[in-house]
Amino acid sequence: MTGNADYSREITLELVRVTEAAALRASRWMGKGDKIAADQAAVDAMRGMLDLVDIRGTVAIGEGEKDQAPMLYIGEKVGGGGVHSPEVDIAVDPLDGTNLTAKGLPNAIAVMAVGDAGTLKSFPGFYVDKIAVGPRARGCIDINDTVRGNLKRIAKAYDCRMPDLTVMLLERSRHEKLINDIRKTGARIRMITDGDVAGAIATAIPSSGVNVLMGIGGAPEAVLAAAALKCLGGEIQVKVWPRDDDEKNKLIDLGYKKGDFDAIYTTDDLCRGDSVMFSATGVTGGDFLQGVLFEGNTATTHTVVMRAKTKTVRYIKAVHNLSTKTVPSRSESKEVQI
Ligand code: FBP
Repeated sequence: MTGNADYSREITLELVRVTEAAALRASRWMGKGDKIAADQAAVDAMRGMLDLVDIRGTVAIGEGEKDQAPMLYIGEKVGGGGVHSPEVDIAVDPLDGTNLTAKGLPNAIAVMAVGDAGTLKSFPGFYVDKIAVGPRARGCIDINDTVRGNLKRIAKAYDCRMPDLTVMLLERSRHEKLINDIRKTGARIRMITDGDVAGAIATAIPSSGVNVLMGIGGAPEAVLAAAALKCLGGEIQVKVWPRDDDEKNKLIDLGYKKGDFDAIYTTDDLCRGDSVMFSATGVTGGDFLQGVLFEGNTATTHTVVMRAKTKTVRYIKAVHNLSTKTVPSRSESKEVQI
């Protein structure tokens, strides 16, 4: 890294503007049944806003490979910085919960993380098996152990009985065995239809009532969850989970070797060191962030922004005046109204 050694202090609040812009634009699509348009609006705003941040960024986690995504593709250079600006890795999910937004369901968020160059793992857009916990249960999880073994240790860490424990997971047919195994322990389950970045973060927010997130979800989302949990003192472990031989072969083409399929990737493998900053703004209201609220001539956003280095967690409520507020649109190369 070059430039200001404590650049994170200066740009943390810039990240708030970036996720706010994505959430504001996406929120206009709430309930309209068009998840693609909602995602595009978020991507366009996030990409436009990143041009204004004083960084030299490379997208490590983004909207996909270059040929699949016009903006925020893996490897894209972003940021408005010059030669003396910090070189950073960027992980983005402009809208985690495209379906949630399209249906107006809770827990859609616009999310990003920034860390020193080379610190955020560039996972391909496949699936990983995940287990994530908040600070109280850090050090108690082992993705290779049984569900019962993990839940027993987590219950002990929370000083609660098994029936008082709540496991969050994505509602997917691939989780049939996992659901049965959890039910056999007596623990409670909370299924979500989408949005496991918010799910992983919920494990570190006591008022959410969620003790652990388990199950298979997106690999890019795992890196964002790792960044958030690093700031919050939690932990995540993942293993790659190719759906079929085709995905397995693609991973082999990317350089994955036999042993890598059994490897456990820890919080620190996904997000190295403590340089990471994380920002998430609610699109639809959820467990720890309210969604975008329109009232009169204003839109109110709710963002959590945090730094791993200091572990400061800030909740920022912003009231945007709709008659004066604009956000940059990358595709239109101009400021647009929300
Ligand atoms: P998008 O909003 O980007 O579509 O992702 C939502 C999500 O639920 C993630 O939170 C999760 O990791 C992933 O999709 C799970 O994938 P799938 O829906 O294919 O099971």
